[in-house]
Amino acid sequence: MEISTSILSVKKENAIRTFYDLEVAKTDYFHIDVMDGKFVEQNTMLHMLEYATTIKHISNIPLDVHLMVDKPREQIEDYIDLKPTYITVHYEAFKEEKQLEDTLLYIKQNACRAGISIKPDTSVEKIYPYLEKISLVLVMTVEPGYGGQKLIETTIPKIKKLKTYIEENKLECFIEADGGINLENIEKLNEAGIDIAVVGSAIINSNNMKETIQKMKH
Ligand code: DX5
Ligand code: ZN
Repeated sequence: MEISTSILSVKKENAIRTFYDLEVAKTDYFHIDVMDGKFVEQNTMLHMLEYATTIKHISNIPLDVHLMVDKPREQIEDYIDLKPTYITVHYEAFKEEKQLEDTLLYIKQNACRAGISIKPDTSVEKIYPYLEKISLVLVMTVEPGYGGQKLIETTIPKIKKLKTYIEENKLECFIEADGGINLENIEKLNEAGIDIAVVGSAIINSNNMKETIQKMKH
């Protein structure tokens, strides 16, 4: 399993130090939590773009951009130049299917892998029609909007169901879980079939990020 460290809770004053330490700790991705203050309460637009730009200058570790925004198309423009590996948009941010399809195509036309994220209350069936067009499903295991929340246990059967569907239909899509993941619950998520775990506070607040990441990757 790969680890995508969320930098949402990284404080400005020690950002560079933390990014270097995460590189040494061998995080597989930097998870960039972009929030517009509309789709979710917080607004992290400016400082997430600043962090992502800084990381791009000092590290080769890939970016995993999670857009929690009402108008994903506009935010994608900001991130394309940073050549992120993944750009993930929320299913719930689109009123029409065509808009979502066009946005996924635009991400791919700009040499990024496209992902769809679903909130805890959104059923996995909703995104079945898109699975052959995307590289990643980001299953939220908390309500989007804040770091440091507790994992919502009822999202685990959703992951199992999605994994079964992907396997039965021989699809290539990866599953990423995001929110409240720590050393106590990551094994359950691994058994449920995730490929990537997004981890914020359990890594950023740990006293040994390298050891925590290695244990999580087991
Ligand atoms: C929440 C974000 C998550 C969060 C993860 O809206 O999408 O990526 O920052 O942080 P932890 O691991 O602390 O829940
Ligand atoms: Zn996230």
